[in-house]
Amino acid sequence: MERGEILRWLQEMDESRLEELWKKADEQRKASVGDEVHQRGLIEISNYCIRQCRYCGISACSSGITRYRMTRDEILEAVHEAVRLGYGSVVMQSGEDPGLTVAFIAGIIRTIKEETDLAVTLSLGEREDDELRAWKDAGADRYLLRFETSDPELYERIHPALPGKVSDRFAQLERMRDMGYEIGTGVMVGIPGQSWITLAADIDTFRYYDMDMIGVGPFLPSPRTLLGGPEAADFYLSPQDQVPNDELTTLKTVALTRLVCPEANIPSTTALATVDPQSGRELGLMRGANVVMPNVTPTKYRVLYEIYPGKACMHETALVCSSCMERRIRSIGRVPGKGPGGRRRKI
Ligand code: 5AD
Ligand code: FES
Repeated sequence: MERGEILRWLQEMDESRLEELWKKADEQRKASVGDEVHQRGLIEISNYCIRQCRYCGISACSSGITRYRMTRDEILEAVHEAVRLGYGSVVMQSGEDPGLTVAFIAGIIRTIKEETDLAVTLSLGEREDDELRAWKDAGADRYLLRFETSDPELYERIHPALPGKVSDRFAQLERMRDMGYEIGTGVMVGIPGQSWITLAADIDTFRYYDMDMIGVGPFLPSPRTLLGGPEAADFYLSPQDQVPNDELTTLKTVALTRLVCPEANIPSTTALATVDPQSGRELGLMRGANVVMPNVTPTKYRVLYEIYPGKACMHETALVCSSCMERRIRSIGRVPGKGPGGRRRKI
C-alpha cells in the first residue's frame, strides 16, 4: 500500500468503505499472527523522569506529583504475579530515571531469567549504548521506544533534547536491533501539530524500519503538561489539517499498521481503552491488534503513574485486570496466547 493510499484511508469517513478496511485488517491479522492474544504484564517501575516531554504527565515539568521507584523485591513480586496469571512476558516501564542504574536493572533481568520463562521487555526511555548492551547481555529480549512522530520539527517541539545531547530515537532503535533486541515503537494519534500527512508518514515509517512491535493510542491531554494547557493552541493546525485524537482515527491507524506490517505484534492500548472503556480493547483487537498489556503494578503505585488523566485500569488490581482481559479476549472469539509470543517471521 502506497503512502497516498494510507492517507486516503486515514481520511475515509464512509462507514461502508471503512467496513472494508476493518475486514482486510482483521483477515491480515488472522493470516499473519493468528487468533492468540498475547498478554504482557506491565510493571511501571518508576515515575521519576528527567525529560520535559510536552505531552507526558510524569515529565520533570510536572510538579506536585509523588515520585516512586519500586524496590527489587517489589518488582520481582510483580513478576511472579505475572507468572501466576499466565502471562508470557513482562514489560518494565519507567520515566527516564537515572536512579535506575545499569546494575540494578541487569540484576533484576538476570533473576527473572533464572526464576521464570518470561520474555523481558524494557521501556526505560533513551539510554546509553553500554547500558542497553549490559541489559541485553543480562537477558533482556525486547525494548519499547516510541518515536512519537516522524516529523522532526514537531518532535523537537514536543520532546526537547537534554542540554548538550541529541535525541535520535530512530538511531537508538536501529542500534538496539543490531544488539539483538526485538524493537518496538509507536506514536500518539492526534498530538497537537500532527497532520494527516504526518500520520500517514508515521505508518509508512513503521514499515520502513520493519518494527517488531507497534503501539498506537490516542493523545490524551494532561492538565499537568504544556499540551494540556492554553499554550497548546500554538501547536494545533487548522481543523482540516489537524488529526483528531479520537477512537475512530486510532482504529484506522491500528488497521493500516497491521496491513503494512503484517507480522508485527500490535497491542490494543490502554489509551484506546481509556477513550472507550466499554469496547476500546475489543475494537482494537478486532481491527488489527493481537496483544494486550495488562497492568501488574501494585495499585498504590499505578495511581501515581499518571501519564494522562483517567487512565483505564488505574484502580483495579492485577487479578481483576487479568480476568477482565480474559473475558474480553474470549468475548470476541479469540484465545489468550501461550508462551512469550515473540515476533513471527514468514519463512
Ligand atoms: N496521551 C497519550 N499517550 C501518552 N503517552 C505519553 N503521554 C501521553 C498522553 N498524554 C504515550 C507516549 C509514550 C507512552 C509510554 O505513552 O507515546 O511513549
Ligand atoms: Fe483492567 Fe479491564 S483490563 S479492568
